[in-house]
Amino acid sequence: MIDKKRIKKEKNFWNNLSPKYDKFIQKYWKIYESSLLNKIADDVETDSTILDVACGTGLVSFEAAKKAKKVYGVDIAPSMIKEAKKKTREMEIKNVEFSVEDAYKLPFDNNMFDTVICNNALHNMKYPKNVLSEIKRVLKPEGRFIAIIVGVGESFKFKIALTISTIIGQLPVFHKLNLDEFADFINKSGFTVVKKERIKHPEDRMALLYVVAERSKENV
Ligand SMILES: C[S@@+](CC[C@H](N)C(=O)[O-])C[C@H]1O[C@@H](n2cnc3c(N)ncnc32)[C@H](O)[C@@H]1O
Repeated sequence: MIDKKRIKKEKNFWNNLSPKYDKFIQKYWKIYESSLLNKIADDVETDSTILDVACGTGLVSFEAAKKAKKVYGVDIAPSMIKEAKKKTREMEIKNVEFSVEDAYKLPFDNNMFDTVICNNALHNMKYPKNVLSEIKRVLKPEGRFIAIIVGVGESFKFKIALTISTIIGQLPVFHKLNLDEFADFINKSGFTVVKKERIKHPEDRMALLYVVAERSKENV
């Protein structure tokens, strides 16, 4: 019951954003093109099987697909997935598959992926611990988790701004963490962080917080 409400709310919000999403990223998040996508590609292994959770219009999935054997991209918003599929056809990419799914209940077998990526989304999710538990389940024991959030908690100014935007329904940001808090959160969710990095925004907006983690041994 609660899940239905959450899913409906998330679908509505992100569906509405999807027509302008790529333009928004090009304008405000030049950091994707200038460093983030390359960084993710560096951390992805050749010929691996990858899951991109909350993939949006596929910006990260397409980059990962240049090296991977196969990339699955999932997102709650049908319009985001429609756009991702359209781009797949236009670019004639054969090793990417997109579908509408809820990150809280992934339709994949245990231990299926070499790498799971979740870019710019965990801070928008109300119960990220539940999502991380699903990610851990589908990740191979020796697999790698690449998680990136917006560093709202790095500055008091951003914390206030995004608290207001969440209250008025402009952009839901439920978790306002700094880099150490984010790494700590990943560590406490059954992973071991092996790399953490702050990617500064060239125009002094919010940084992206970039973490690479492995599944913790006790959870294997
Ligand atoms: C800021 S966008 C990031 C999209 C993409 N990862 C990127 O970097 O361009 C956040 C995405 O999270 C997705 N999302 C939010 N809640 C979700 C959920 N419960 N399951 C799957 N996707 C979800 C939204 O639909 C949206 O596409």
